[in-house]
Amino acid sequence: MEIKEVVKEKYGQAALRVTAGGSTCCGAATSCGERDPITSDLYEAGQTSELPAEALLASLGCGNPTALAQLEPGQIVLDLGSGGGIDVLLSAKRVGPSGKAYGLDMTDEMLALARENQRKAGIENAEFLKGEIENVPLPDASVDVVISNCVINLSANKDRVLAEAFRVLKPGGRFAVSDVVVRAEIPAEVRRSVELWVGCLAGALLESEYREKLERAGFSSVTIEPTRIYNVQDAREFLAAEGIDVDRIAPVVDGKFMSAFLRAVKY
Ligand SMILES: C[S@@+](CC[C@H](N)C(=O)[O-])C[C@H]1O[C@@H](n2cnc3c(N)ncnc32)[C@H](O)[C@@H]1O
Repeated sequence: MEIKEVVKEKYGQAALRVTAGGSTCCGAATSCGERDPITSDLYEAGQTSELPAEALLASLGCGNPTALAQLEPGQIVLDLGSGGGIDVLLSAKRVGPSGKAYGLDMTDEMLALARENQRKAGIENAEFLKGEIENVPLPDASVDVVISNCVINLSANKDRVLAEAFRVLKPGGRFAVSDVVVRAEIPAEVRRSVELWVGCLAGALLESEYREKLERAGFSSVTIEPTRIYNVQDAREFLAAEGIDVDRIAPVVDGKFMSAFLRAVKY
């Protein structure tokens, strides 16, 4: 419960900053804005040119699931933790008027921002639902593709999130998610420092844990594709300001955190 309240507060404030004309980011204040190595340059200009500027400014993802997921006209898409709505609006365009894109988020300010972005974009086949990704307010077997962008790592109950994704997917439906993943075990204390820097990260899973959890939830054909691999230079300024000896931890951090695209199928 407490994690959820902290997450809500943090993303509520992020949404309000965008509404007030600012930008926002996943990382610490020092790495905010265009230089954020995690959230910046995820979308190509051609992909987002028809969306309101606020949708892009509010982007807090760590990947571009709509570019990597195969979306077909007529499909139903669900975005877990839809934030300012960028991936929902892009998905709605891809599935066309015969399809629909749902966004699910628990933070009122993010929902308000997303609905305003939808209105400005003039997109009708999208709907933003209030709720938790651990209890998806949609029926069983009602969705073709579940997407998500840097949200599942925030959940304290990832098994439940993956079980819900599996439940709402139709047979043959696909899980196509961007998330931050840890590639190998690193000492807990170092991990905490890096997670502080990443900011949007409450508990990234090890690659092997993610795979196991997806399979336990019932998914098959799991693949995990690195999209960005981080090194300690990305976080040097922040870690040094926290009093951490960056050169000492570099060998155990470099290359261990990555943004990845996770694919799986419900057969
Ligand atoms: C890092 S932001 C990512 C937003 C969006 N996917 C994007 O790419 O810009 C995380 C979002 O997930 C939402 N969120 C986090 N945990 C959630 C949960 N357990 N249930 C529903 N929404 C959640 C937050 O309110 C926030 O809008």
